[in-house]
Amino acid sequence: MSDLIPVGYISGLNVRKRISRQQPKGLPIVNMGYNELPYPPSARVQAAIAETAKQANRYGNALCTDLREALAAQHGLNADNLICGNGSEELLDVVARCFVRPGDEIVISQYGYIQFSMIANRLGARLVQAPEVDFTAKVDHILEAVGAKTKLVFLANPNNPTGTMLPKEELTRLVQNLPGDVVLLLDLAYGEFVGADYCAGVHVLVEEHDNVVATRTFSKVYGLAGLRAGWCHAPGAMMGGLYAARGMGSVNAFAQAAGLAALKDQDIVDRSVQQIVTERKRLVGELKGLGLTLANSHTNFVMCAIPGDDGSKANALTEYLFDEAGIIVGPVREPGLERFVRFSLSLPEHNDLLLANVMAFLRSVH
Ligand SMILES: Cc1ncc(COP(=O)(O)O)c(C=O)c1O
Repeated sequence: MSDLIPVGYISGLNVRKRISRQQPKGLPIVNMGYNELPYPPSARVQAAIAETAKQANRYGNALCTDLREALAAQHGLNADNLICGNGSEELLDVVARCFVRPGDEIVISQYGYIQFSMIANRLGARLVQAPEVDFTAKVDHILEAVGAKTKLVFLANPNNPTGTMLPKEELTRLVQNLPGDVVLLLDLAYGEFVGADYCAGVHVLVEEHDNVVATRTFSKVYGLAGLRAGWCHAPGAMMGGLYAARGMGSVNAFAQAAGLAALKDQDIVDRSVQQIVTERKRLVGELKGLGLTLANSHTNFVMCAIPGDDGSKANALTEYLFDEAGIIVGPVREPGLERFVRFSLSLPEHNDLLLANVMAFLRSVH
């Protein structure tokens, strides 16, 4: 029997390697590896899910009408310009499938979100990576990377795994200088951690330009990662094509009901942002105090490295945190970032546990 390897598969350009063995000390697992929110869904969200369960024999609304209308009302947008998806990940894929064909080019920044590379790979497109400075995208470098074959630019603000972002003025400059036939997808998966004004500015860019789209998600600050709901704000001319490229029932009824309920809990969302940002400032200060190198995070996660490491200490730290404390963090696999580990901010006690074990690890290797 021959081994059939999928066409275009690039080994290493794969989902991140995760620790899958049993925790050796039998400790509870503290997962800080997936950029999730540590808080469980609100009572209102849980009630909406329970209520939906009673009608699970019915399809969810394929157009996500109520959810789109609630999103439009909350953000001052036109519901006709919104499409929901099975997480925002699906919508990144849908937009790319609408505009990119084999042999076309997709431009991303050097350390852009790993799914951008995977989408280019899936579509047989050539990925062009614009160099970053201080782990941050550079508009001039992105513009230099755009050529005759470029169909799409993906840019996450803030980005994963770096957590860095560009200010609104730089996004505007990018839009103004990008050829009108190149689509710019601005991924705002972590936008709420920057603030409503920043996100609103991105939506204005979408409204004012025919080639700009924005994606957002219920997975991060809304804490609904397991349900899979995201949304995309796009120019009217694109909407038919986007719906045609998306599955009919990709946003299930539970995800729609939970998203709708979560939008009513804005006070909880605001509190979550505040708690995470407070913990981020604390941890960043502590880790810098330990001499670690940190990218400038604007998100619910932090990417840090031990100075002088070639990647072996990052791997050893990842193993150590799991074996000693049951903590899962994400070793960063993107080429050039192998010396970094990325962890999501969690409850204060989990952040303390992480900090104590990072300290113990540093003592053990020095
Ligand atoms: C930058 C970025 N964009 C998009 C996503 C996709 O999130 P989801 O599909 O859960 O909406 C993620 C998830 O980690 C992300 O980090």
